[in-house]
Amino acid sequence: MRIVTVLGARPQFVKAGALSRAYAAAGLDELIVHTGQHYDPGMSDVFFNELEIPKPWRHLGIGSHSAPVQTGRMLQELDDALREAAPDVVVVPGDTNSTLAGALAAAQLGLPVAHVEAGLRSFNRAMPEERNRVLTDHVADALYAPSQRAVQWLAAEGIVTGVELVGDVMRDVLDWQLSRLVGPTSQDTVNAVDRVVVTIHRPLNTDNPERLRRILRALDKLGALGLDVVLPLHPRTRTRIEGWSPPTVRVVEPMGHRELLSLVRTARAVITDSGGIQKEAYWLGVPCITLRAETEWVETVEEGWNVLVDADTDAIVRGASSPAHGCVVREAYGAPGSAARIAQHLRNLGSSS
Ligand code: UD1
Repeated sequence: MRIVTVLGARPQFVKAGALSRAYAAAGLDELIVHTGQHYDPGMSDVFFNELEIPKPWRHLGIGSHSAPVQTGRMLQELDDALREAAPDVVVVPGDTNSTLAGALAAAQLGLPVAHVEAGLRSFNRAMPEERNRVLTDHVADALYAPSQRAVQWLAAEGIVTGVELVGDVMRDVLDWQLSRLVGPTSQDTVNAVDRVVVTIHRPLNTDNPERLRRILRALDKLGALGLDVVLPLHPRTRTRIEGWSPPTVRVVEPMGHRELLSLVRTARAVITDSGGIQKEAYWLGVPCITLRAETEWVETVEEGWNVLVDADTDAIVRGASSPAHGCVVREAYGAPGSAARIAQHLRNLGSSS
């Protein structure tokens, strides 16, 4: 049974951490194709190193382009790579342009496609991630859904065959990382009670000057209230906020996953437009203030751990200065072991084909 995993962007590397380990434990042969969508060491290498992800078999070196050019170049390179690898199945995690390219290339070559994190919907087609997920789900043969809601959303689009409710692989990654964070680090303890961790990278926020201005104003206000506001910057966001340097906000380089989690786990709150961090905050019991009008992780909102504030300055300040805590039991995304369930299912697929 040979698996090819196609990935290329940060949130996919995080998921690959759990998946590759589970494949190895199940005796499955995996070849990783890295599209090169993310190429800076701080956006790629650091994740391979700390999550102990096997070295990519192929690196396509695509880099940054407009979405159609980026996706198109990936497709062209994947044609050769997938023909050469001749896998039994192509696994694509997440919802990035690399996810879509991997799914489409495999489908056009007649190779079975498995989508990890299938069925999520924000119902906002203006988001590239939403378009990527919908398209990927509609060509996938195995659809690994993280939540009951995702299964229902797939059914509403007529997708019922091949759907498996497996829980969320990011839970496995979180547990693995936490087991390596032995005791509080110096980062954990310094100002932890007043710390607010912020991440901003979605085009919705970075490429709309008015929204970005309102968000930055909120961060400035929170800093002025005496909170320790830490903002690890995505490269794109950095180019958009050149010249903005309020003394009240700690602007730092993008962080590795473990370093980020060590800050988040003892923070007062997180402010983010990332999907993954909304869930990590939920599992860690840290209130999340989400810089979007909708989320695909609706359970985090329903259970009181997440508030959707869009780019409303006052709501961001209110949310982070007086954060609301939600339900004690946080099990919307299933029990740990999702990656092992996926590996087992793939193994069964291999032996039945
Ligand atoms: C991508 C994913 C998004 C995910 C995010 C995590 C898509 C459509 N979006 O968005 O779902 O949450 O990754 O980070 O695939 N850049 C660098 N160095 C890098 C990578 C990017 O400088 O290593 C800069 C480039 O200027 C590039 C910009 O960031 O143009 C955007 O990168 P891109 O990969 O197109 O999308 P992300 O915004 O990172």
